[in-house]
Amino acid sequence: MKNIVLTGFMGTGKTSVAKQLSSMLGMKIVDMDSEIEKTQGKTINDIFAQLGEPFFRDLETEMAQIVSAMEHVIISTGGGVVLRPENIEYLRKNGIVVCLMASADTILKRTRSTDERPLLKVDDPLAQITEMLDVRKPFYKNADLVIDTEGKSPRQVAEEIIRDLQWKK
Ligand code: S3P
Repeated sequence: MKNIVLTGFMGTGKTSVAKQLSSMLGMKIVDMDSEIEKTQGKTINDIFAQLGEPFFRDLETEMAQIVSAMEHVIISTGGGVVLRPENIEYLRKNGIVVCLMASADTILKRTRSTDERPLLKVDDPLAQITEMLDVRKPFYKNADLVIDTEGKSPRQVAEEIIRDLQWKK
């Protein structure tokens, strides 16, 4: 089976859906942000604060290239991976790109309990999310499969992905 590449904005449930898919399909998870943190020995927050977003984006592209050589894994990406078309080209070589969608309100609810997302540390996170979603929507829609996660549990989303992937084979 090809890799399953989960894309989508922060807080759309990529990590929890990856866990569900992993236990349902017996596939290992590779989390791109965690891999970047391991190679840098720094958290994503520290990479943004100390080295800047453009540096992080270069690390993300390097990582997209590395993980795209893997086989039979679930790849959980960072929400901004879609911004560089070459990242998606790499990830698609061996994988099916599945994008998770959610509304700005839902994203705010799902992200406000942690401070792990440097791009949402602003006075008005809802306005920031709305604006970023607007800019990124065309990139997210460019996936092989687009799944609305609104009102669904990670298990329901995973089941929907598995069902839809049967038709894609
Ligand atoms: C980002 C999303 C984050 C992380 C970084 C930038 C983005 O990953 O890669 O903070 O630009 O949307 P998650 O989507 O896993 O939160």
